[in-house]
Amino acid sequence: MILDVDTGVDDALALLLAVKSTALDLRGVTCVAGNTGLEAVVRNTLRVLDAAGAPLDLPVAAGAARPLLDPPHLAEPDATQTAEHVHGADGLAGVDLPDSARPLDRRPAVELLRDLLLGAEAPITLVPLAPMTNIALLLRTYPEVRPKIERIVLMGGAVNGGNVTAAAEFNVFADPEAAAIVFGAGVPVTMYGLDVFYSVRVSAAEATAMAASDVPSARLAGQLLLFRMTGEADSAEIGDAGAVAAVITPDGLTTEALPVRVELDGRYTRGATLVDRRAESDKDWDPHRAYPAPVVDVALGVDAKRYAAIFVDTVSCP
Ligand code: BDR
Ligand code: CA
Repeated sequence: MILDVDTGVDDALALLLAVKSTALDLRGVTCVAGNTGLEAVVRNTLRVLDAAGAPLDLPVAAGAARPLLDPPHLAEPDATQTAEHVHGADGLAGVDLPDSARPLDRRPAVELLRDLLLGAEAPITLVPLAPMTNIALLLRTYPEVRPKIERIVLMGGAVNGGNVTAAAEFNVFADPEAAAIVFGAGVPVTMYGLDVFYSVRVSAAEATAMAASDVPSARLAGQLLLFRMTGEADSAEIGDAGAVAAVITPDGLTTEALPVRVELDGRYTRGATLVDRRAESDKDWDPHRAYPAPVVDVALGVDAKRYAAIFVDTVSCP
């Protein structure tokens, strides 16, 4: 598996799970601007990998610092591309983590992705948890990697509504053109969207116990989860880490193969994922059928207790 991240509180949780899981073989990590700027994403990713105890030769590369088309600051006067209000000013909840001496790979993310994929003995699962700029650039620059991608399990989109606007989810909204390229690349895609994203949750009691642990990965995960429990909340979602759990245990996810288009134009709906759930017979009337929508395995339900247990158990293991 390869992770593409914009670390970010829940990307940090995903990194911890991916490194600690003995069921996964993490081959590399690529960074992209999103939750916070690229420099902070790289810094956070390296610090989290230290806490996870990742091997020093795990390659980590920096990628796109801005979306394909939109400027990093989007059109709305108060809407920035980043999400510091959700992830803290440093993108990582202000937790006290030392800077990392871990080396950054000299290759740009797209080159590292290409080399890892073409050099792999068997196809690899790509897990983008951020705006999909790096993955879109990879697929356009090196289309020959496609047969080496087993599946793309991405966090992004939603069947019903958004989080950054009423229509759009953050990762797709932040770079809609990139998302459209990834959905349409002809590679199997699982869309782990908002319909399941908030369902997998860790209780305050579990997070408090983790935060008090001697195991560095458990301690960091507990602190990050507690940061997310503002106000009256007595639990927090593991967010992006759920997409990693979906690679570990795919049968915990209920999916349906459905046509999905990314809205690239809408005045109020740009970045929405339009999932076509009409009956087959109704689809005959689709005036857009000359431009068929990519068919994606859309997550409609999740065994939330199972994924939460996988997360807590794996990350808490010494
Ligand atoms: C996505 O946006 C980011 O805030 C999270 O890390 C996640 O990838 C949810 O919309
Ligand atoms: Ca993310």
